[in-house]
Amino acid sequence: MTTPATIHFREIDLDAVAPFMGRVAVLVPANGALSPTARRVDRLTRGALARAVASDAFAALKPGDALDLAFPVGLKADTLHVVRLEAKPSVAEARRAGGTLGRVKGTAALLVLGGAQRQIADVSLGLALRDYAFTAHKTAVEKPRGEVTFMVSAPEAVAASAGPMAAIAEGVFFTRDLVNEPANILTTDDFAARLAAMQELGLDVEILEEGDLKALGMGALLGVGQGSDAPTKVVVMQWHGGTPGAAPFALVGKGVTFDTGGISIKPAGGMEDMTMDMGGAATVAGVMRTLTMRKAKANVVGLVGLVENMPSGSAQRPGDVVKSMKGDTIEVINTDAEGRLLLADVLWYAQTRFNPTGVINLATLTGAIIVALGHENTGVFSNNDALCNAFLKAAATEGEGAWRMPMGDAYDAKLKSRIADMMNVGGRDGGAIIAAQFLQRFIKPDMPWCHLDIAGTALLKSDTDLAPKGATGWGVRALDRLIRDICEG
Ligand code: BES
Ligand code: MN
Ligand code: ZN
Repeated sequence: MTTPATIHFREIDLDAVAPFMGRVAVLVPANGALSPTARRVDRLTRGALARAVASDAFAALKPGDALDLAFPVGLKADTLHVVRLEAKPSVAEARRAGGTLGRVKGTAALLVLGGAQRQIADVSLGLALRDYAFTAHKTAVEKPRGEVTFMVSAPEAVAASAGPMAAIAEGVFFTRDLVNEPANILTTDDFAARLAAMQELGLDVEILEEGDLKALGMGALLGVGQGSDAPTKVVVMQWHGGTPGAAPFALVGKGVTFDTGGISIKPAGGMEDMTMDMGGAATVAGVMRTLTMRKAKANVVGLVGLVENMPSGSAQRPGDVVKSMKGDTIEVINTDAEGRLLLADVLWYAQTRFNPTGVINLATLTGAIIVALGHENTGVFSNNDALCNAFLKAAATEGEGAWRMPMGDAYDAKLKSRIADMMNVGGRDGGAIIAAQFLQRFIKPDMPWCHLDIAGTALLKSDTDLAPKGATGWGVRALDRLIRDICEG
């Protein structure tokens, strides 16, 4: 598994600046006010720092961006990053400044100077998140990454607030690794084993096998996996950090390790991206890892359905009727609308077994949500304004795009089947909403619930401020913050 960079916080030592080998970064506000460490850098470089800060190029920088000076005179360092960061930056700006430093690849050590003490932990998280690289299948020997040191006036205090942030980086990396992993390696067995390994951290992990799922009556989930040699599983992760015995909050994830579409097979072009169709399950797993590592004072249960959607002689056919655990029958018109079949059973199981205070499910559910929102926002569907608004607020603070979508009976009516209780599709138009209506049929009437369609946000073809191209880990930070806000507050 990919581990975040090693980050140290140490006491200010002005004599250590000149001889530092590697990269030096100075955080400077737009008004040019230099901290004592920055003033030392300015004296050593014979005013180069002050001139850089006074330049038009610096004035044109967005908060969190940097001007780079190569081989600065007076320093042993190869590069001096002059980072624009206001004295009271927003969380997003502080993370962005870290992201600017984390984007630079190489083995050079990094020394970071200046900046508002209260935001240094956020800078360190941004740095760690952007520094991620998925190298598991590169055979060239990996060179060790340079260590990172922040020089601050109160290292213990900064380190204490950076602790929970390190847990966040670990959770995000866990999610990204799972999403980036190809499907021949991340089988349902392998996925379950990686989750079971979290028991060592203190998380309670339980694996339900096909026999158990059959006994529970999960015909909708089992139908999806019947064409694959990989065994279908449900993994239940419980974190008991809150009041003993109090009802938990539930997170439920779609974990389709590969989605060929089944007999309703997908076109070849781009099908390789369907290795990411377990993104919902990966996000649930990443949040559980973060909660466990930072010992969250909350009871949270994470449930994931793990299954592979393949065409074969034993695969489910279009037109098949399956019976869900809830008892409702479903006519499978399109075997490529498999995520909702999986979620129908895992959502029902989560509610009946745990009677949670609320449920949030995550799924790379529809191409239609990408048509609607592109890759900038996750589609949020909910039956409960309070829970939905709390989530949207947490996502906004974390800078994770999320946009609420409508729901309604007219959409639900499209699911009417001639021969069963419902069909699994209801036409192309409004497809993401109809999928949400399908899920809502498996939510108990008064259960606060949100469905997050992350098909457009789980994996990106280009870099962002806080992630290289590929898996983003979207939602780990927002959900961790939501749990903090609504369960620990
Ligand atoms: N896993 C896909 C959705 C998806 C598409 C995720 C693109 C990520 C990127 C899902 O299982 C699917 O195939 N949905 C169908 C539903 C349709 C058959 C109603 C779709 O969106 O085309
Ligand atoms: Mn599909
Ligand atoms: Zn799918």
